[in-house]
Amino acid sequence: MGAKLFATKPISTILAEAEGSGDHTLKRALGPINLVTLGIGAIIGAGIFVLTGTAAAQFAGPAIVISYIIAGVGCVFAGLCYAEFASMLPIAGSAYTYGYATMGELVAWIIGWALVLEYAFGAATVAVGWSGFVSSLVGFFGVKLPFNPTPHLALTFFGHPFSAHVDIFALTALVVITVILVVGVRESANFNSAAVMIKVSVVLIFIGLSMAFAFGHWQHMLANWHPFIPKNTGHFGQYGWSGIMRGAGVVFFAYIGFDAVSTAAQEARNPQKDMPFGILGSLIVCTILYIFVSGLLTGVKSYTTLNVPAPVADGASAIGVQWGVLLIDLGAIAGLASVMLVMMLGQSRVLYTMAHDGLLWNWVGKLHPRFCTPYLTSIVVGAFAATLAAFLPITLLGELVSLGTLLAFTIVCLGVMVMRKKQPNVPRPFRTPWVPVAPICGMIVSLALMFSLDAPAWIGFSSWLIFGLIIYFTYSRKHSRVQRSLAAAARESGATLSH
Ligand code: ALA
Repeated sequence: MGAKLFATKPISTILAEAEGSGDHTLKRALGPINLVTLGIGAIIGAGIFVLTGTAAAQFAGPAIVISYIIAGVGCVFAGLCYAEFASMLPIAGSAYTYGYATMGELVAWIIGWALVLEYAFGAATVAVGWSGFVSSLVGFFGVKLPFNPTPHLALTFFGHPFSAHVDIFALTALVVITVILVVGVRESANFNSAAVMIKVSVVLIFIGLSMAFAFGHWQHMLANWHPFIPKNTGHFGQYGWSGIMRGAGVVFFAYIGFDAVSTAAQEARNPQKDMPFGILGSLIVCTILYIFVSGLLTGVKSYTTLNVPAPVADGASAIGVQWGVLLIDLGAIAGLASVMLVMMLGQSRVLYTMAHDGLLWNWVGKLHPRFCTPYLTSIVVGAFAATLAAFLPITLLGELVSLGTLLAFTIVCLGVMVMRKKQPNVPRPFRTPWVPVAPICGMIVSLALMFSLDAPAWIGFSSWLIFGLIIYFTYSRKHSRVQRSLAAAARESGATLSH
């Protein structure tokens, strides 16, 4: 009998697992404010601190503000759908589990595989951004390093010469994070709150400094904002409206993380009520901050000069406030480190859940005898992310992450509609408003953002999916626990019938 690709995991099983006992049980300690803080901790990172500058310079110009609004609106629609699922199925597997419950195993696998793009590639993207701020700080103090932090490497790959710069800071950051994850990090709410406070303060300081500057320098600001939408160069995505869309696809990265709130569902005191609050609250706070930062940054400094590793720090420097540069460098270094940690932790949670369902090898879920952490997964994923961070440019990495996450968002939006049809009576403590309009809008914006991204990112994304499908068809579907219990049930009913 062929395995059922669209076998769904029963909601009762999922809820039983969420309430389960044993060492897998997580402590319910998080209230609504903790959840908003957790979301902001995962959201504010390399997107606003780095990609705002690169995307404004290369794609959207000052209209990067419009890109932020478009991406933010798409995220709010997707966030409403996440909120319905997270309150209905409060379990750490997040979108992967929602997919399993609604559209079946193959779709769940695709989402889980796309979430690896979101978290592992995301951590690599943030590491490259982090490296930019470390270099900016080193430059600030005029320190001469005894080594070159981006040495040039010439290799031969299948007979083809290949050359690249290696980002030593980004590589080191991920190696350190991996060691922390292996030794075991207590996800302390206090540590996260401190990181969030630092990040939000830095963002607010930049907004305050830029506004004060704007009051005395309106002409300067207006000149930089003109033309607000630079004329398209004749190529798709280079300024004009297609550039705004491409910019939206790139800065979408800045919003990623609100969905990570849903992975903490098993640690929430009252997930039914607090999940929607945490997801939507963190998203709205960040959207407002992003609109201010992107608008002011392109005002204080011409967008043509923003394709640099630490654009927000450069913005403070353009205003002439040197202590601002120092604070922004330090804040971004601390804040981005916390995003890397959250992403790598999210990664191990999703892979752990998939291994638990039998879709990945047993070693993926294996815990270290002393540290009780999924150390093998952490080491493999850490080495993988460090390699990506060392060699790939931030825009390509960010676009790959956006593609993977947008695919997951599209499926979650579709899932809400499917679930309303298939299981109308399951209790939904939070209901997405205006169904099917809101999920359809979420899908349209997500797909539009995906198709605005560039060919190299699409090639990488498609190769990633094909690689994932090979694993699914050669391993996962034969070892799936859901498939096994279906087969056992079928055997049992066959035996009963033959008696
Ligand atoms: N939103 C997170 C960032 O911008 C991933 O770094």
